[in-house]
Amino acid sequence: MIPRVKGTQDFIDCTLYNFIIDAIKKHLSLYHFTEIQTPILESVDLFQRSLGTHTDVISKEMFVIEPAAAKASADRSRTESSEDRICLRPEGTAPTVRAFNEHRIETVPWKVFSYGPMFRYERPQKGRFRQFHQVTMEVIGSGAIAQDAQFIAMLDRFFHETLQINSYALVLNFLGCSSDREKYLVILKKFMNKEDIAQRICEQCKERKEHNIMRIFDCKTATCQELYKNAPHIADHLCQTCSQEWHELQKQLNLLSVSHVYRPTLVRGLDYYNKTVFEFVSKNLGAQDTFCGGGRYNQLVAQLGGHQDQPAIGAAFGMERVMLLLEPLRDQLNIPHLAALHVIIPMTSAQHTLALLLADELRAHDICTDILFEGSMKSMMKKANKLGAAYVLIIGETEQENRTVMLKNMTTGAEEQIAQIDLIARLKK
Ligand code: HAM
Repeated sequence: MIPRVKGTQDFIDCTLYNFIIDAIKKHLSLYHFTEIQTPILESVDLFQRSLGTHTDVISKEMFVIEPAAAKASADRSRTESSEDRICLRPEGTAPTVRAFNEHRIETVPWKVFSYGPMFRYERPQKGRFRQFHQVTMEVIGSGAIAQDAQFIAMLDRFFHETLQINSYALVLNFLGCSSDREKYLVILKKFMNKEDIAQRICEQCKERKEHNIMRIFDCKTATCQELYKNAPHIADHLCQTCSQEWHELQKQLNLLSVSHVYRPTLVRGLDYYNKTVFEFVSKNLGAQDTFCGGGRYNQLVAQLGGHQDQPAIGAAFGMERVMLLLEPLRDQLNIPHLAALHVIIPMTSAQHTLALLLADELRAHDICTDILFEGSMKSMMKKANKLGAAYVLIIGETEQENRTVMLKNMTTGAEEQIAQIDLIARLKK
């Protein structure tokens, strides 16, 4: 047996997955979002330029693909173009922005969502996969802070009211504009260079200090965490406009009854963020406790070659982590029931054709029907029961001759002979 690839999984039962997708589609349509689809294959450059070369995703986790044809020696001599440098997408924001730019979308805000598999070469563990699934939602072309409040409230309503998840917190931070960031980085660097800090931080933080200093706050080492307790926070170093926006956002969320907690160390793992950043976290998930994350990315459209700068905000939630949270709540969710199953049992192969014709007729009337072709009468009845059949329709030689079927109600056990011509009306009753 060849097993599945490490860090991937099979969804043998897609009920919960489809329930979430149907629910988010319905929810997002209320906020006037439309669905888009972008390819799973994208150019490596797209992510390098947007996520930042020193982020974990780019430096360690990319699934870069070399097409067999490009490997062939004849092709080797060709100068490598961006077409050859392709990868499996690790996230959905950069592709959405690429599509926005490439299709020269002019009607803004462009409110779109997409969903599907993403790929990151991470160490697999509970809630962390190498192939996982995200729902990505983006609003491109709106910079109003009220847009952030509306967007975050939209997510909160979905998790809390539609999915009825209660065990989570919404954590927020404000990363300021680019000039705030520039000034803050100097202040943070000064703090990190203090002798008692610089010498005691872990090796990874030494590296981060040089290349991606704000990520020091994500360090899991207890000593580093202790040292950073007195670190300066960006939200205390905002310009007047950003400071006003940050307060306005918190006020609007309060007015919308969206509970939130200020987490000054929340920086997010991707480089494109500025101003608002947020995460939905749940202690019920274990170590991988974030099930949704996002924020503003006002520079990304221009950075990826857009003809004009466009402020934007977005977020993505991980299907696997939301499914983990929903699994214990399955019974209280409004998951639509499967249609009642009708199983036709032809007693011998002489009734197979009649079974095919009858089943075809039933399905044409939206009646969910299956036929059992193999086994003894006893084993077929057992199987029908196991499949959860509401009714079994038995056809033997007598029924075939008399143009009837023996209809058995699997709940009550009641049996009746019924003319084939009356079957639809009887079952639709
Ligand atoms: P992210 O925080 O990297 O953000 O991922 C969003 C969510 O995807 C996470 O909160 C988590 O639920 C899920 N996720 C990430 N990695 C894995 C994994 N290895 N296994 C299982 N689930 C995972 C983004 O991807 C941004 N593009 C979000 C965004 C949209 N920001 C603005 N717009």
